Amino acid sequence: MNQMIRNFSRLTKEEKTELITKLFTSDAPAACELLSKYNLQDPTVQSLHDGFAENTLANYYIPYSVAPNVMVNGRFYCVPMAIEESSVVAAASKSASFWAQRGGFKASVEKAVKKGQIHLYYKGDKKIIFAFFEKVKDNLLRACEPITKKMTERGGGITSLALVDKTDVEKDYFQIDLSADTMDSMGANFINSTLECLAQEFKRLFEEEKIAGELQIIMCILSNYTPECVAHVEVSAPVDDMADGDMSGSVFCEKFVKAVRIAHLCTERAVTHNKGIMNGVDAVVIATGNDFRAVEACAHAYAGREGRYSSLSTAEVKDGVFRFWMDVPLAIGTVGGLTRLHPLAGLSMDILGNPSAKELMMITASVGLAQNFGAVRSLVTSGIQRGHMKMHLNNILLSMGASTEQMEKANVFFKDKIVSHSAVEEFLKK
Ligand code: MEV
Repeated sequence: MNQMIRNFSRLTKEEKTELITKLFTSDAPAACELLSKYNLQDPTVQSLHDGFAENTLANYYIPYSVAPNVMVNGRFYCVPMAIEESSVVAAASKSASFWAQRGGFKASVEKAVKKGQIHLYYKGDKKIIFAFFEKVKDNLLRACEPITKKMTERGGGITSLALVDKTDVEKDYFQIDLSADTMDSMGANFINSTLECLAQEFKRLFEEEKIAGELQIIMCILSNYTPECVAHVEVSAPVDDMADGDMSGSVFCEKFVKAVRIAHLCTERAVTHNKGIMNGVDAVVIATGNDFRAVEACAHAYAGREGRYSSLSTAEVKDGVFRFWMDVPLAIGTVGGLTRLHPLAGLSMDILGNPSAKELMMITASVGLAQNFGAVRSLVTSGIQRGHMKMHLNNILLSMGASTEQMEKANVFFKDKIVSHSAVEEFLKK
């Protein structure tokens, strides 16, 4: 099959399934059966899922887990995490319990400013466009009131609107930069609709008032870079309280601080280090129906904000106290989008006690730091493979079709042995 499929979206789900399995799979009946298994029995919930995207054939499941004992600012949370990577939830839970016994995570959110821009080109006298913008600014804000009114009534809305000269980077390039407080929503729709309305009115007034020069609106879009929507989280404990197995607290802390420092110095390590943080962050972001692509894109841009990609977290020992902290941008919400539409996202909010967006930012950052702590702790003590391989063993066993009894025996057998694909195969043969 090497040709266009026309009008695919117009087919029913059954027709799409039949066509795709026939054209693209090696065993169409088996593929159909598989897809049918991965559709929910309940037609109401299934059609809800189908409505989240286009051309849906089935549901792609990843485990929905919880990490209990995540103590943030003195309150215990049981945190839902949706992630397929073995050992992430176990590590988060272990770290969370460790820190719950040492005062828990201290988190804060200073601001939660979201931004968007109208990108435009103006050929003409800069003074004219700036004067015109200042003159019509109030008209612009009034024009988009039908969109902003409700948000403003709830205490949020547009917090600033400014024309920005970008001609130092590109001739004739300007932005109308909008900042907004989107309260408990992530705010993408609010910002994009507002920007489009503002742009339309700006152009209309520009033409109506016959302003000198040439104006071209290129696009209106929120920015997923949210350096003013950041959660701070930290943990601390006396060095003596940080002993790990045979390793004394002071040796552990020294190695830990050096490991985090390496992530500040070396891009190769920084990316993996931050990936460990995002293992925790993404899992909560997904479980709560938020946009993990936006969070990921922003976190990494933020990690490079000083011109070089670096660690998001930092550790130090001062006056006998180990301190480990992180600032992470998190443009997430607790209302709107999938956060209430996806039944499991709704359940996550319920399990979390229906947090505000700022509270969810603090919880999510705490899980990210917990995850980071767990990973770096393993790296500087036993090494990462021991914990990983234990979980990986079960995946290998499952992929080989092992029975429950075989899995139990394998877990006992491999307790003190190196897990590899061939070793597991050998074990099963025996
Ligand atoms: C694996 O998913 C994440 C780690 O590689 C993170 C890290 O190295 O810090 C374990």
